[in-house]
Amino acid sequence: MSKVFHRNPRHSYPVAVRGEGAYLIDRDGKRYLDASGGAAVSCLGHSDATVVRAIQEQLARLPFAHTSFFSNEPMEALADALIAHAPAPLEKVYVVSGGSEANEAALKLARQYFVEKSEPQRRYLIARKQSYHGNTLGALAVGGNVWRRKQFEPLLVKVAHVSPCYAYRGRLTGESDEAYATRLAAELEAEIQRLGGDKVMAFVAETVVGATLGAVPPVAGYFKRIREVCDRHGVLLILDEVMCGMGRCGTLWAFEQEGIVPDLVTIAKGLGAGYQPIGAVMVAKRIYDAIVSGSGFFQHGHTYLGHAAACAGALAVQERLHEGGLLARVKPLGAKLEARLRAAFGSHPNVGDIRGRGLFWGLELVEDRSAKKPFDPTLRLNARVKQEAMAAGLMCYPMGGTIDGMRGDHVLLAPPFILEETQLDELVDKLARAIAAALAGVSEQQPHESVLG
Ligand SMILES: Cc1ncc(COP(=O)(O)O)c(C=O)c1O
Repeated sequence: MSKVFHRNPRHSYPVAVRGEGAYLIDRDGKRYLDASGGAAVSCLGHSDATVVRAIQEQLARLPFAHTSFFSNEPMEALADALIAHAPAPLEKVYVVSGGSEANEAALKLARQYFVEKSEPQRRYLIARKQSYHGNTLGALAVGGNVWRRKQFEPLLVKVAHVSPCYAYRGRLTGESDEAYATRLAAELEAEIQRLGGDKVMAFVAETVVGATLGAVPPVAGYFKRIREVCDRHGVLLILDEVMCGMGRCGTLWAFEQEGIVPDLVTIAKGLGAGYQPIGAVMVAKRIYDAIVSGSGFFQHGHTYLGHAAACAGALAVQERLHEGGLLARVKPLGAKLEARLRAAFGSHPNVGDIRGRGLFWGLELVEDRSAKKPFDPTLRLNARVKQEAMAAGLMCYPMGGTIDGMRGDHVLLAPPFILEETQLDELVDKLARAIAAALAGVSEQQPHESVLG
């Protein structure tokens, strides 16, 4: 029996032994088309020779040098490459080991910035309901997903949560995008004022919401309104692009499509593409300057900051995205995926909404399409879809609690940028079969029977 404390100890996981392009292969030789990049990680597939070679060469040369003693070449080169493709005023890169760490660092940077600026009263954070920013305590506190927070609530710092920009369920009948965006920005402004204007330090949001809502992009103009509100009150805008950034939505930064620049941006999954664990915070000049000309020291740090082998891998990923032309594939390939999804599910009675950008798509599953009525959560439709998809040789990322952390089901898709057109057909075909099998199982099952372990 396995001695590993698995994520879900009651579940028996196949053992992955090999990666081949868009496929993972288990110990029994079964092949799984990776349509979700795990959780939007593996944007280059699983056997990119350039990235593997870069990591191997770095390991042979220098695996690690502690950042309190040395800088290292791949970390410097990675920061140069990221900044070369980032708009002003983003000027510095703080390199960590994953998404939660990146968000922890961003929160502490925001706080220290205001301490350095002699505004120590700024201590409140505002984020959005139904968001996910990681599982460490600070990131979890900022996250707005009720189910993920519930049992840890006594350990979490107080964070205010406003409505997400979730047009399918949040926009009123007849309301324009502009009116919806203005209403949401007014909600944020009212919350800032309620907390006492100059006491708020940052607003945190995923540019395109991933795991908890299922690839939900903002309506046009939303982030422009939000940026204005933040600027009016001296509040920092932190965008979490751990999942939606690094080309996933068709541009290197998801915020490029919103016409704004945030003060801090966190990235992780697609940064290392799964070849090494890595994350980063992109930092605006004024934040960096305040710290350098103030105390001169960001009071943070982890042992594996700027890990040389991880940076070498991430640098090679950047080369593959830009010089290798993979970033340029995302929009056209995404449009083909969208067309296939709409053809297969556009009038499906149990698919209420299809939304997304680039190669980041979500299908929201409903019992009644016209009433947008979700399935009974005890049927655990999302878990059934995952089980059926794995049986069919497809990795996708279904989740429950889409609406409020309890009700609602969606399926998230985040396939690798290397996908071939025939694999798009395979993806949609296997997904249709998995959803059909899951729905058939649900109709045979009475609510309240437990389904999966
Ligand atoms: C938007 C977002 N932020 C943060 C995280 C946390 O990243 P990690 O799991 O690398 O700590 C995730 C992970 O799914 C995420 O989707």
